[in-house]
Amino acid sequence: MRTEGAPRPTACPDPLVGRRILVAITGSIAAVKMPLLVSALAKRGAEVRCVVTPSAAALVSPVALASLSRHQCYLDADQWSPQAPRPLHVELAEWAELVLLAPLSATSLGRWVHGLADTLLASTLLATEAPVVAAAAMNTSMWQAPPVQRNWQVLSTFERVLALGPAQGLLACDRQGDGRMAEPEQLLMALESVALWGWQRDWQGLDLVVSAGPTREALDPARFLSNGSTGLMGVLLAQAARLRGASVHLVHGPLQVHPGLLEGLICTPVQTAAQMQAALMAAQGQVDAIAMAAAVADHRRVEPMAHKLSKLALGDLWAEGWEQVPDLLAGLVASRPPGQTILGFAAYSGDGLAAAREKLRHKGCDWLFANPIDQPDAGFGSPGNQGWLLGPGGQEIEMQPASKLAIAHQLLTALRPPQLSQPGP
Ligand code: CTP
Repeated sequence: MRTEGAPRPTACPDPLVGRRILVAITGSIAAVKMPLLVSALAKRGAEVRCVVTPSAAALVSPVALASLSRHQCYLDADQWSPQAPRPLHVELAEWAELVLLAPLSATSLGRWVHGLADTLLASTLLATEAPVVAAAAMNTSMWQAPPVQRNWQVLSTFERVLALGPAQGLLACDRQGDGRMAEPEQLLMALESVALWGWQRDWQGLDLVVSAGPTREALDPARFLSNGSTGLMGVLLAQAARLRGASVHLVHGPLQVHPGLLEGLICTPVQTAAQMQAALMAAQGQVDAIAMAAAVADHRRVEPMAHKLSKLALGDLWAEGWEQVPDLLAGLVASRPPGQTILGFAAYSGDGLAAAREKLRHKGCDWLFANPIDQPDAGFGSPGNQGWLLGPGGQEIEMQPASKLAIAHQLLTALRPPQLSQPGP
């Protein structure tokens, strides 16, 4: 599998290449994670500048940030240089196309929400018109303190801001609870999402169920039948919908994606098609849309072997004792409530468009995304995808090679249920 940080084939452009990204770091211990994130952005071809508060500069080295971003790291002492023709906070605010504010401490949150401009970072935040991805990180009690919660509520009403609340885990203060900064993989994904789509929450108030990853059918206690799906496409579809405001339930088989990419999703992990079917049927209820991105293994043993087979005995297994797994998508279509939109996926190799048209017809879903798995920049584990989205009334939308997150946003735009009033960009 190619990992998230691996170089991308040129046919699948990285949405962060050439973007001017201001990384604003405030005083939380999670600041120690930022140099590697800055390095990841620079390696992906983004132009990066860093600005730190005095407390952040005590936690993480401005020299390291300067070195990894290939540019001076800005401190409060730089703000009013007699050599500068324009105020630095205005220069930085206007330079930035995107701002990553991470970690966001209780103090810096309070400053921003109350319009205070007493540090370089605080005044830059007030002066910028660029979208901001903000990730809070602090001690659990501080996070839960009513003034911080009030400030966070106010922040969530700001335009142009994608606010990522803290995750649960073991904190540096030895507390177990809410307070961890979103994982760097989550922050990179959120930045990429804002670069592609913006901050509009056009799925706000909607419920979406996404299935992702392969299923596994046991042959014996040691072996299983499965496929090469990593689940990345489904996970990114779920995350794109979440960042656009949807409440998302992800039902997934064994994934090969960074666990940080699951943050913020309601997840139900499963192994077999039967477990996936039960979870999907239980979740189907009144949700507005379902996306079946899972690569369901097609066959299973009628009775899996109770004991591990020898390799010779394994050879005899193929002849008999198999059954087809039920078609989960067809079952969801048959039991759907009125108004529910259903998207199927169809992985193909060779020329799959004619087969995809037929698949849309016989599966009975509203939309079908047919994507090749034999192209160099698409398919299982690749950061990119492409294909055809077939939809109601004979619609056929060709999707050019793009990052999986970009494809996810295009799918969500096509799928957006008609009752939604607020269009995106
Ligand atoms: N699917 C499903 N249940 C199955 C097999 C597939 O719900 N048992 C769903 C997949 O999640 C996908 C769609 O059906 O959304 C198409 O999957 P695909 O593997 O392309 O089709 P199959 O139905 O397996 O048909 P075939 O392999 O014969 O082309």
